[in-house]
Amino acid sequence: MTTGKPLPHDAATLHVTGAARYVDDIPAPAGTLSLGFGQSPVARGVLKGMDLSEVRAAPGVVAVLTAADLPFANDVSPSNHDEPLLATDRVHYVGQPLFLVIATSHLAARRAARLGWADIDEETPILTVDEALAGDSRFEGGPVIWSKGDAEMAISGASHVIEGRMEVGGQEHFYLEGQAALALPQDGGEMVVQSSTQHPTEIQHKVAEALGLPMHGVRIETRRMGGGFGGKESQGNALAVACAVAARATGRPCRMRYDRDDDMVITGKRHDLRIEYRAGVSEDGRIMGVEFRHLIRCGWSQDLSLPVADRAMLHADNAYLLDHVRIESHRLKTNTASATAFRGFGGPQGMVGIERVMDHAAHLLGRDPLEVRRTNYYADAPAAGAEGGLSAPRRLAAAPPEDISTKKNVDLASRGAPPDDDRVPVEAGSGQTTPYGMPVEDFILNGMTDRLAERCGYAARRAAICRWNADQPVLRRGIALTPVKFGISFTLSHLNQAGALVHVYQDGSVQVNHGGTEMGQGLYQKVAQVAAAGFGVPMEAIKVTATDTGKVPNTSATAASSGSDLNGMAVKAACDTIRGRMADCLAALHQLPAAEVVFADGEVRVGQDRMSFARAAQMTYENRVSLSATGYYRTPGLAWDRLRGVGKPFFYFAHGAACTEVVIDTLTGEYRLLRTDILHDVGRSLNPALDIGQIEGGFVQGAGWLTTEELVWDDRGRLRTHAPSTYKIPACGDRPDVFNVALWDGENAAETIYRSKAVGEPPFMLGISALMALSDAVAACGPGYPALDAPATPERVLAAVERVRDA
Ligand code: MTE
Ligand code: MOS
Repeated sequence: MTTGKPLPHDAATLHVTGAARYVDDIPAPAGTLSLGFGQSPVARGVLKGMDLSEVRAAPGVVAVLTAADLPFANDVSPSNHDEPLLATDRVHYVGQPLFLVIATSHLAARRAARLGWADIDEETPILTVDEALAGDSRFEGGPVIWSKGDAEMAISGASHVIEGRMEVGGQEHFYLEGQAALALPQDGGEMVVQSSTQHPTEIQHKVAEALGLPMHGVRIETRRMGGGFGGKESQGNALAVACAVAARATGRPCRMRYDRDDDMVITGKRHDLRIEYRAGVSEDGRIMGVEFRHLIRCGWSQDLSLPVADRAMLHADNAYLLDHVRIESHRLKTNTASATAFRGFGGPQGMVGIERVMDHAAHLLGRDPLEVRRTNYYADAPAAGAEGGLSAPRRLAAAPPEDISTKKNVDLASRGAPPDDDRVPVEAGSGQTTPYGMPVEDFILNGMTDRLAERCGYAARRAAICRWNADQPVLRRGIALTPVKFGISFTLSHLNQAGALVHVYQDGSVQVNHGGTEMGQGLYQKVAQVAAAGFGVPMEAIKVTATDTGKVPNTSATAASSGSDLNGMAVKAACDTIRGRMADCLAALHQLPAAEVVFADGEVRVGQDRMSFARAAQMTYENRVSLSATGYYRTPGLAWDRLRGVGKPFFYFAHGAACTEVVIDTLTGEYRLLRTDILHDVGRSLNPALDIGQIEGGFVQGAGWLTTEELVWDDRGRLRTHAPSTYKIPACGDRPDVFNVALWDGENAAETIYRSKAVGEPPFMLGISALMALSDAVAACGPGYPALDAPATPERVLAAVERVRDA
């Protein structure tokens, strides 16, 4: 089987040699023009007029467009039609595009864009959570509130009550490749756009609206992104639409890319928020009741903020069974860039709240935070742990044992056809359920936590750290083991579908296309492995072509970690169809039943006869049987009412646990990650090498979010951290000195592609262990509770050290 093999990323060689083509590397036709946006210098005000004469006169400028020059829709919003491409009567944040410069070079466009002059009646911007609350500046009228049980009563009846608040910062995506697009005008006003996007269909939709065309007149192609991380789910719309409009206006190809500073100022980031919490805690560490209030800064337009805020609520329980819980979510509208999707899509923000509660409760009781976490875990599924086990660490976590594939087939067969979505009732389940009433039936974190704690020597190291800290005048160490339970599926249920198009050529080579996009996560390689397994051919026989809205239509964004779950299944369906036709054809020629046709090792065996896969394809073709098929998949069994907060929004949960040890310098607040051990659940891995890469990268990015990545806006709403000089993403040297990643080796209980699990986002939240380890180290400095805000920069760590000493 090609699935389960630790193959490298399909473009690894291209990546490391610099030969991989990104949008801005695509050779453009002669005469291609470049674009730049003139941006608002003001966060909020009335746009009375603009003087663009200097812009128009600048060298290389071909044309300048304002909102009034746009032929059709002036909107690049993915949701609410509240996001003009170019400002009309008002400006809403610093960096908002006001006009579009079309010039002969990128530099000319950028220089000219700085020469515009806007007459803006400046108003006091709404920037902070407090300002937004005071002005009742929000989306959705009022807060969204979900509850289970009676939190207030449970809290008042508990032996201890903890209360607190935590500021949690946002995060810049910092994809290596900035946003980019290239539009190529076609016959009759039609448009082809090359776009660095996670969501080609969305780009197609917005370009069609802007050009007044049906969607069939617009084709979008995406070969790869140099990282997306959610930042290219909706934020590429502006560039693609600008290029298409400019190409229409000039009749010439147009390209656009943001420089790093522009990218950081113009595009949205992870939502920052304030979390207020109140929890009742029993003597033995059980959370009897808990209330959360999420105060989320969404920025100036709605974008994806509502589902992001929903997902924060959906992860307010993380791994813990909460009988009495109330979650209140305020989606605040501020004069800042519109916050958007970012790995975890709100999940990390919700999860960090309950992890803070666990940490705080343990501190109050003077107990090991891991014990308190364990006390509150959901119970493991009955069979869990029996099958799961720690596969050999790191590189050795390789192919599954031989017998797995046969067992899988039995499983698949016995479960029958998936239920129809429409027939699943929206109601709270029984047994242990989440705060939104979904039964938790596949929990495995008790077994995983035991295994990880044992493997990394948690108990002994905690004791050693305690002794070490007692002897140290300046340094303090801390350790924390934190779990992750992350729901897999788009919470907008209809997005959970995918299509594929597969062609087998007469020489036995196979071309695969699917609706997912490649952003470095390795989706194309996983899908190619699925296709190779489907035909029993070597990987060299498979070619996955660039994502193309003309090949597979109506795609969902590659997001919610569901790329391989959805597209893998769709590709498998297409391969199954073609293989079935080939088998029928060859069986008929041999006068044998189709069951006697076996595809394996690049060959097809029909009874006693063997032939190459290529020969089999050739024969099928000569017998006039189609070697091309579409495939389709939709996730079964989802039903969910987001307004009430009740139902089954997720197909299954992915799990992980991380133990991180840190050391802090109590004189400066500086720190290092000394060691991280991770055990992560990817089900039956489709590709352990890619999965481990996702886990390592996810952890580092998550730790970066909570430690060094700090976004600072000034009191006029200007982002002061808009370059790597002032915004600190983790560098290679910031990885933990010791970094062990292992896969929990058990198959997905849900019927996914080869029983694998989604891996893109869940490991991000393992980074929470770094924040909690810092909290542990600070707690060793004095009697007070550290109450660390995030990101826990050295300045914040230092302030917390002083706080706990003074307490
Ligand atoms: N890995 C890399 N290298 N680059 C990325 O941009 N994006 C993450 C994750 N891993 C990302 C990544 C996000 S936000 C998601 S939703 C998933 O990949 C999307 O891909 P998948 O659904 O195929 O896992
Ligand atoms: Mo990922 S935030 O779902 O693109």
